[in-house]
Amino acid sequence: MTNRAMTHCFKHMRALIISLLYLNLLRISVASVVSTGNFNNDFFVMWAPSHVNTSTDGRERSLKLDQESGSGFTSTQMFLFGQIDMQIKLVPGNSAGTVLAYYLTSDQPNRDEIDFEFLGNVSGPPYIVQTNIYADGLDNREERIYLWFDPTEDFHTYSVLWNLHQIVFMVDSIPIRLYRNNADKGVAYPRWQPMSIKISLWNGDSWVTRGGQDKIDWSKGPFIASFSDYKIDACVWNGNPRFCRADSSANWWNRRRFRTLTRVQKRWFKWVRKYHMVYDYCQDYRRFQYNLPKECSLPKYS
Ligand SMILES: *[C@@H]1O[C@H](CO)[C@@H](O)[C@H](O)[C@H]1NC(C)=O
Ligand SMILES: *[C@@H]1O[C@H](CO)[C@@H](O)[C@H](O)[C@H]1NC(C)=O
Repeated sequence: MTNRAMTHCFKHMRALIISLLYLNLLRISVASVVSTGNFNNDFFVMWAPSHVNTSTDGRERSLKLDQESGSGFTSTQMFLFGQIDMQIKLVPGNSAGTVLAYYLTSDQPNRDEIDFEFLGNVSGPPYIVQTNIYADGLDNREERIYLWFDPTEDFHTYSVLWNLHQIVFMVDSIPIRLYRNNADKGVAYPRWQPMSIKISLWNGDSWVTRGGQDKIDWSKGPFIASFSDYKIDACVWNGNPRFCRADSSANWWNRRRFRTLTRVQKRWFKWVRKYHMVYDYCQDYRRFQYNLPKECSLPKYS
């Protein structure tokens, strides 16, 4: 090797090393696992502190609704993609008219939002879970299912997986709803705005139970729901969507196996839709006057 060739080679190696270091830095700057499991660290109470209890170790929290007020808390950080798992025990007994909302929202005028809403019932279980998605400020995408267990007896895990390819709602790891990114076909998809995690318990008796026919029976209150052992494994918003969208190995949510449902997930998903589905906006021809939203004509499972 001549001297010149060697200098040239070193230059290349230096450039390579610098870019490797730089890539590594990028990776480190993406904080993805953020949950500490301590409600006092990851969330703050945004509504009625007097109606919120947190255990001394911070690992359990409960919300109360009475005639005076509902209550709620919200995450201190915002996120763009990842997975949130929350363990919830719902309001027991006659919960008609109450609604527990557990959702991710960007809180913007053109907001993006991913909603779980638990709708109370006079007889307690079966509980209806309503899910909805706002993209670019528009919703009207409600689905409803019956839960296949009594959600007031024990904690169960309610999760959202959200990435550039799909949004999957899960109950104890079973997918109950799938919303695919069909932005290339003109269907709005939440993919730019960071969202915070919010949970609140409130009076929804104008609509929640049998379209508002069953009102809250205050003599059955106070109504209490509890939360524990959550996990947030998501991309913390740092002002630049590029970090969370990148196909780097730290961004696990964009990996191939999280881009579609697995075979096993698909089987469970079909089971939920076949035996537990109560309402699907994509079948509500009357409401949309035979002009169903565009995503309704696209494949459901792939
Ligand atoms: C908090 O604890 C107090 C005292 O035990 C109880 O009266 C109240 O209902 C609890 N509130 C919630 C939200 O669990
Ligand atoms: C309430 O529970 C009863 C069973 O006890 C069920 O038949 C009914 O459909 C439920 N109603 C709603 C609105 O979930």
